[in-house]
Amino acid sequence: MDGFQTRLKHSLRLRLSFWLLLAIIAVALAGSAVSFALIFTEANEMQDTMLRQTAALFDTEHPPAPNSRVASRPDIDPEARLRVAVLPPRNERGHPGARSAGFPPDLVDGLQTRTIHGQTYRIFVTGLGSSKRIAVAQPTAIRDETAGYSALLGLLPFLILVPVLLLVVAGLVRRIFAPVMAAAAEVDQRRERDLQPLATTGLPEEIRPFVTAINRLLTRVADSMAMQQRFIAAAAHELRSPLTALSLQAEHLDSAGMDENARQRVRTLRHGIDRNRALLDQLLTYARAQSAPPMPESVVSAHDLFRRLLADLMPLAETKGIDIGVNGADIQVVTAEIELTTALRNLVANAIHYTPPHGIIDLQAAPTPDGVTITVEDSGPGLDPTERERVFEPFYRGLGTDVVGSGLGLSIVKTLIERIGGRIELSEATRFATGLRATITLRHRPARQ
Ligand SMILES: Nc1ncnc2c1ncn2[C@@H]1O[C@H](COP(=O)(O)OP(=O)(O)OP(=O)(O)O)[C@@H](O)[C@H]1O
Ligand SMILES: [Mg+2]
Repeated sequence: MDGFQTRLKHSLRLRLSFWLLLAIIAVALAGSAVSFALIFTEANEMQDTMLRQTAALFDTEHPPAPNSRVASRPDIDPEARLRVAVLPPRNERGHPGARSAGFPPDLVDGLQTRTIHGQTYRIFVTGLGSSKRIAVAQPTAIRDETAGYSALLGLLPFLILVPVLLLVVAGLVRRIFAPVMAAAAEVDQRRERDLQPLATTGLPEEIRPFVTAINRLLTRVADSMAMQQRFIAAAAHELRSPLTALSLQAEHLDSAGMDENARQRVRTLRHGIDRNRALLDQLLTYARAQSAPPMPESVVSAHDLFRRLLADLMPLAETKGIDIGVNGADIQVVTAEIELTTALRNLVANAIHYTPPHGIIDLQAAPTPDGVTITVEDSGPGLDPTERERVFEPFYRGLGTDVVGSGLGLSIVKTLIERIGGRIELSEATRFATGLRATITLRHRPARQ
C-alpha cells in the first residue's frame, strides 16, 4: 500500500487515472442510489394503482366471494395473489364476511398499510354500491420484492457503463501520456555520449517547454564535455613535448660514461618517462576519439588491415614468442579505417601483453547477415565475467596484472567502435582452453567484390 501511495504521489498518469476512476465510481454510486430510490417508489405507486384498478373491477352485481383470492390459478404464487373481501358498510361493526376474511373491521376508505396475523399488507378499501365496501390487499413483502427487482433492473445500465467507462478512461490516459512515455524511453535507450536534442514533434504543448528545457541542458552538457575533452587533449599534447625532450636527455645520459649503479638508475628513469609518454599517448587518443569528427568511410580489405597492424606489433609479439595468425577468407569492410585500425591495435596489443609467452593469437573477419564481425582471440588467462564490462571504464585495470598500462585501451576501443556504428563484446575464447575473445560487430554491409 505504501508503495502504491508513493507511486501515486510521483506519477502524474497514475494520479490522473486514480482520481478519474474514483470520480466515476462515486458518480455511479450516487446515480445508482438515486435511481434505485426513484424506481422503487415508482414501482410501489404502480402497485397501488393496480390495487385501485382491481377494486374497480367489482361492482354490486358481482361482489367477490368472501375471502377470495384473485385468479387462484396454479401458475401464480399463492403468496403473490391479491386478497379481496367485502367489508361491512362504514361505521357498521361485526360483518360476518369481513371477519371470516380476517380483515380488521376498522379499515378506512383509501390506501393503508396494516398488519394482519403477523403479515403486513397494503390494503385499498372503497365503497361498493351504497351499503358495502370492498378491500383489495397485497402483502407488502411481495410488493417490496417486485419493486426492488424493478429498481435493480434499473441499475443495469450503470453496471454495464461503469466498467466500460473505467476501461475507456484508463485507455485514454495511457494514450494521452504515450508521447511522454515514448520520449522517456528514447532517453533511456540512449548511450551516455549521445547528447543530441530530443525530438519535440508530436509532443503535447504542455510537455514541449519541459523537453525544450532538457534540450537546452543537453546542449550545455555537450558544450561542457567538449571543453573538458579539448582541455585533456591540449594538456596531453603540451606535456608530450617536454617528456620527449626528457626521454632524449635520459638516452644521452645512458650513453655517457657512468658507473653501473648510476646507469641502472637512469634506465629506471627512462622506463618511467616511457610509461608516462605511453599514458599521454593513450590520453590523447581517448580525448580525440571522443571529440574529433568521424572520419569518412572507405572500403578496406580486412586482411590488408591485419597485415599493417602486424607489421607494427609483430616485434613485440616475437619478444614473447607469441604466434599471431589470421584465419578465414578476406572480406571487404566499409568503415572509417583510422578508427577501426586504432581500435584493433589496442585489442591486439592487449592480447600480446596479457598472453603469457608462447601463446597464440587468432585474428578473423567474417561476414554476418547485416554486416561483419572482426574477432581477436588469445590463449591468455581471459577475464572474469564480472570484469568484462568494467574493463571498458576509463582507467580501470584488471586486478593482479603486472603488465604496465594506463587502463584506457578498451575505453578507446569502445568509444571508437560505437562512433563508427558498431559494437564491441568480450567473451571467453572458443578456440583455446582459456583466453579472451574480443568481437567487433559492424552493421555495415561488406562491399561487393
Ligand atoms: N586480452 C586480455 N586478456 C586478459 N585481460 C585483459 C585483456 N585485455 C584487457 N585485459 C584486462 O583489461 C584491463 C583494461 O585493459 P585496457 O586495454 O583498457 O587497459 P591497459 O591495457 O591496462 O592499458 P592501456 O591503456 O595501455 O591499454 C587490463 O588492465 C587487463 O586487466
Ligand atoms: Mg590495453
